[in-house]
Amino acid sequence: MIEKTSLSIPSEIVRDALSKPTIFKDEGPLSLEWLPTRLPHRENQLRFLAELFRSVIDKPGTTSPKVLITGDIGTGKTVLTQRFGTDIQRTAKTLKLNLAYIQVNCREYRGSLFMILKRVLQTFTPQFPQRGFSSEELLHILLDQLEDKKLHIILTLDEVDSLIKAEGSTSLYNLTRIQEERPGRPVRLSLIIILRELKNLEDLDRSTQSTLQRNIIRLDHYTTPQLENILRERSELAFKEATVPEEVLNFVADMATPGGDARYAIELLWRGGKYADTEGAREVKPDHIRAAANSVYPVLRTEYSQHLNLHEKLILLALARVLERNNATYATMGDVEIAYRMACEEHKETYRAHTQVWKYVQNLNATGILSTQLSTTGFRGKTTLLGISSAPASAIRRWLESTLSVRA
Ligand SMILES: Nc1ncnc2c1ncn2[C@@H]1O[C@H](COP(=O)(O)OP(=O)(O)O)[C@@H](O)[C@H]1O
Ligand SMILES: [Mg+2]
Repeated sequence: MIEKTSLSIPSEIVRDALSKPTIFKDEGPLSLEWLPTRLPHRENQLRFLAELFRSVIDKPGTTSPKVLITGDIGTGKTVLTQRFGTDIQRTAKTLKLNLAYIQVNCREYRGSLFMILKRVLQTFTPQFPQRGFSSEELLHILLDQLEDKKLHIILTLDEVDSLIKAEGSTSLYNLTRIQEERPGRPVRLSLIIILRELKNLEDLDRSTQSTLQRNIIRLDHYTTPQLENILRERSELAFKEATVPEEVLNFVADMATPGGDARYAIELLWRGGKYADTEGAREVKPDHIRAAANSVYPVLRTEYSQHLNLHEKLILLALARVLERNNATYATMGDVEIAYRMACEEHKETYRAHTQVWKYVQNLNATGILSTQLSTTGFRGKTTLLGISSAPASAIRRWLESTLSVRA
């Protein structure tokens, strides 16, 4: 161990920073993994979920509900199901019912049903053999195990979009149908499927589509007052008393409103708190929140937008929307132009002709805010593809929607 005296003394800056007081009481409630006890503005959906699963508690083994939950990023899909799962499992326990709740994020398993089922099986049988089975065989093994253990599971597949992308229709078809292949035996597997893009359902076969569409819960973007309530509950737990003025909560909620994204709102508030602490301020101020918003993606700074004219902003907004909708890296010039004309209509502007739009695209390309390339495969003929690599499309969209609406 080489430890010179000079190295063993902590740097003054760090030591001083950490010895100063903080306005935080407990940062936990502002972390994204934290599971709140109460979910403001999702109570009805929570109650509805409970009703959909009532038969699992009242008459175990007779039905296996299948529920589809859909909504944009930050609308509370994951947290709603986690809250529901935790609570129904506890309720079952007090009733001495053998019920387990399991939630798996499909993206973490690269959309592979085999990997997902292996993970589920390993919760019961830690030494489950690694190979030699197809996912359909694993599914039968899982049902056999549930029967042996007289156990019912509610399995939530989060971000199922990636499972559909990776494996098409087959996996979800098998999952939703498997129990019908075993007539006369008690049903022990219920499903909650979380899908971000309802459009991805179109990639499934008709019968799976209609099975899933029977029980659907759509989560809308949160409004400003709703975000404010969510933030208030969390900030009371996270910050010391009187350190976050109501005005600041409203400001954060307002900034996150175009997308109604609770995740972004919570992140902004946490980061704003960090800036306040760095300055040694006694409370979070709007400027700390502004700094937090700017620090996330530098291209979203106001200095940038000052150099863009209205139509450049509308083109950029159109591109961000197409990318977000398609969940894609690139969009074709044609699709962007269609979305651009719609954006013009929205803002009561006359749209510019193709050659002018093309010039604006070149300007945007020069500033580095978007990038262009010529298509190779997968597109008919040669077409120009546009992409954004400077920030997530959703952040660009949110930023432009708010700056453009201020102007209107
Ligand atoms: N109604 C709510 N009350 C409290 N926190 C919420 C609520 N909705 C969302 N959140 C929080 O916002 C963040 C994003 O929610 P999440 O469930 O991950 O969204 P999604 O899965 O739809 O992208 C999480 O930290 C979550 O705890
Ligand atoms: Mg989620």
